[in-house]
Amino acid sequence: MSRNGSIGVGLLGLGVVGSQVARVLLEKSERIAQQVGRQVTLRRILVRDRSKARDPLVPRSLLTVKASEVLEDPAVGVVVEVMGGEQPALDYLRRALSSGRHAVTANKEVMAKHGPELIALAEEAGVHLTYEASVGGGIPIIGALRNDLLANEVTSLHAIINGTTNYILTKMAQEGLAFETALGQAQALGYAEADPANDVEGLDAAFKLAILASLAFHTQVRGHEVYREGIARLTARDFQYARELGYTIKLLAIASRTDDALLLRVHPSMVPLGHLLAKVDGVFNAIEIQGDLVGQVVFHGQGAGALPTSSAVAGDILEVARSIASGRRPVRSGILNSRLRILPVEEMVTQYYARLTVTDRAGVLAQIARTLGDLNISIASVIQKNADPTTQTAEIVIMTHPAQEASVQQAVRQARALDVVREVGSLIRVEHWS
Ligand code: NAP
Ligand code: HSE
Repeated sequence: MSRNGSIGVGLLGLGVVGSQVARVLLEKSERIAQQVGRQVTLRRILVRDRSKARDPLVPRSLLTVKASEVLEDPAVGVVVEVMGGEQPALDYLRRALSSGRHAVTANKEVMAKHGPELIALAEEAGVHLTYEASVGGGIPIIGALRNDLLANEVTSLHAIINGTTNYILTKMAQEGLAFETALGQAQALGYAEADPANDVEGLDAAFKLAILASLAFHTQVRGHEVYREGIARLTARDFQYARELGYTIKLLAIASRTDDALLLRVHPSMVPLGHLLAKVDGVFNAIEIQGDLVGQVVFHGQGAGALPTSSAVAGDILEVARSIASGRRPVRSGILNSRLRILPVEEMVTQYYARLTVTDRAGVLAQIARTLGDLNISIASVIQKNADPTTQTAEIVIMTHPAQEASVQQAVRQARALDVVREVGSLIRVEHWS
């Protein structure tokens, strides 16, 4: 990369996101040069399989299967990692940063597990490490937390940050689609991770929550510190009952702060139908933040897919390139080394919805009510549904008043042990906030 000449970009990955990023760099090269004040040139692209069919706009001569041809090319000043997965992406990012190259990544797994190490490496080397696309696809949430909201004490963050699951839940709620059919559609549209279990089991959202919470609360949160449950156990009946009770079901990622501790969780949640987040449908994501100065602020946009994600990755490349062109040093990350205690989820207090299949005979409700009462769990409402004379079972739906998670889990264990309880089908937390 010459001092006044072109800024060279090396791309690691040419899949859903990488292909669109390459397209932006090639198609918008003149506009980018005007914005940056220097040419930004795509120099080399790492792929796994050179023989695969690719976007014809991307010259095949740029493709390589050797990482060193990108990471050691003297013309490459900015390495853009859009491969995904922990390894070898992590090693490549380490190599890029420690050789004095700037890095851009869309990789939430790497940032959620190794963000602090990579940020320290970048600061030591005096280079940029940006990761806007790692959370919220095209939504500029990382930049907002790193810059615009920096003066705030954040008290809570409620987010829908997995497009695949939000797409699936929306299809199940609105069209009554089966889980597998909706998942297949999300995969075909390029929203899902290479292993869709990461989406469905809440791991992708947990990684993203760790990244957001680290920035919002100026602490170091790792992905494994986030409590998580996936969406696979939800049924069409849960959506139907939720609606009757005035709620919809979303996979929420929630971070809330007490004086010295953080509660971090990703799980299906009942959200009141009137709430803004209840109206976030399909692949759209939304992040709602409460700050002491800004009050409530909501970011909404497409959380996955080639075009929106390329907006975030290309935005990062331009930010880095502009900074190189003007000789600016990177600013500090905004993550401090202070550690807030992570609260065990058992200490959480919220309302709960439970769906149980029980024997349809006198005294059953009284037994269940006694189990809950003994654990100090107060019932807000009980509805009996779907009595089935052939199996002599009925479905009951219970809403509790706010109760402690540990007591509710104990109640579920005790209810399962009762003769009259055939199944505890679902236990969903009910969230009420501003
Ligand atoms: P993808 O379609 O699976 O593409 C991955 C690319 O990386 C492919 O070109 C693949 O090469 C290459 N690759 C993977 N492992 C490699 C290896 N070991 N050596 C060389 N090349 C390798 O993935 P994607 O959907 O574009 O996602 C990329 C990143 O963006 C991930 O971190 C993902 O979490 C993140 N992201 C994705 C979205 C989205 O909507 N898809 C949104 C936000 C963030 P081949 O083409 O030869 O197979
Ligand atoms: N699989 C992810 C999602 C892609 O569905 O949100 C964006 O990170």
